[in-house]
Amino acid sequence: MTFDPSPFAARRAQLAERMRESGGGVAVIPTAREVLRNGDSEYAYRFGSNFYYLSGFREPEATLLIIADGSQTRSVLFCREKNPEREIWDGFRHGPDGAQARFGFDECWPISELGTRLPDYLADRATVFHCIGADASEDARIVQAIEAVRSRARSGVTPPASVRDLRLLIEEMRLHKQDDELIAMRRAAQISSDAHRRAMRFARPGCFEYQVEAELMHEFLSQGAQAAAYTPIVAAGANACVLHYIENRTQLREGDLLLIDAGCEVDGYAADITRTFPVSGRFSGPQRDLYELVLAAEMAAIDKARPGQAYNAYHDAAVAVLTRGLIDLGLLAGELDTLIETKAYNRFYMHSTGHWLGLDVHDVGRYKIDGGWRPLAENQVLTVEPGLYIRPADDVPEHFWNIGIRIEDDVRVSAGEPEILSHGAPKSIADIEALMRDRH
Ligand code: GLY
Ligand code: MN
Ligand code: MN
Repeated sequence: MTFDPSPFAARRAQLAERMRESGGGVAVIPTAREVLRNGDSEYAYRFGSNFYYLSGFREPEATLLIIADGSQTRSVLFCREKNPEREIWDGFRHGPDGAQARFGFDECWPISELGTRLPDYLADRATVFHCIGADASEDARIVQAIEAVRSRARSGVTPPASVRDLRLLIEEMRLHKQDDELIAMRRAAQISSDAHRRAMRFARPGCFEYQVEAELMHEFLSQGAQAAAYTPIVAAGANACVLHYIENRTQLREGDLLLIDAGCEVDGYAADITRTFPVSGRFSGPQRDLYELVLAAEMAAIDKARPGQAYNAYHDAAVAVLTRGLIDLGLLAGELDTLIETKAYNRFYMHSTGHWLGLDVHDVGRYKIDGGWRPLAENQVLTVEPGLYIRPADDVPEHFWNIGIRIEDDVRVSAGEPEILSHGAPKSIADIEALMRDRH
């Protein structure tokens, strides 16, 4: 597909408008660094989310400036120069001229000139907008540039009087997904759902968690996703009770449940999906009881992912269903309201029911405003992911021991019904068992 720079340009204009509302100035937005893994091998490169959101530019070693001064808006990219020798080794670089033509920036310069040119862009601007504290050397770069302007005071220039956190402006923008973002998110969720289906067809007693992980990665990459959005959790049996289990080395046994939390990244956008299913293809009685409970909690929570609902309503809905069910199953004893109030369920359900989803898996955006949970609004995307994790204990019936279950979907808040981006991954017991019955 040909690259369309217009959504990125529109977001730059939108950010400039917000900067203007705050008195105007310059935003300085570096992309992510390349990071060594060991020796001279690097981790696979991933651009910075804020930088990509405003540029669409994927090369490392780049910084974007957005200038909002009076009624004027300019965007300036600093990037790597063309270099025939390096391009033989590492591949194509746009170079400043190529980047300007393709991405529609007003000016482009070599990244090697950022240090000397930045003071010129900061001179006589009211404010520098910058992600304060995200990277110590970027903090130092801003301070040095301000000092460089100050040292020229006798020539009549004034340094910025304030440095403000860019996050305050950009994170509210990123929270409300635009059409091009939703296209990528739907695709990421669809590929990830296919990967979960593939894992259900593949998993059987005797195979290893890492082999299931390989199947997930096969589906991600063969459908064109650029990466896993986070390290997949493939957790059989008791491993599912370790919330961030990523070892993925255990052999699957007949009576185990397998919890898989895995999603891919498409054009920077993450999916984050969890399914839990029996390795044998059939849920046992206790597994069924707990699974039905988590699924009921998930459905109740998804029903609260609607415009105007307070952000915490979906968590509260999940907690109410889970606590009621834990009483019915003999895992909690007492009054429903008291057990909810004292968070007695925390013993079996110790995480929250979701988070914003987007360019980052745990995406940006405030959850509270002025001390109260914010109301949901259309085109916010969040995960809904209740679970139960039952560790062995004297007061817990043994047939529930070591069962860990989570069901996680990616949901867009819409004017109509909540849009479940991850609908392609089966989650009812009947659908899971039917898929697994047909796998041989
Ligand atoms: N995969 C991380 C999470 O579910 O939040
Ligand atoms: Mn997850
Ligand atoms: Mn999640």
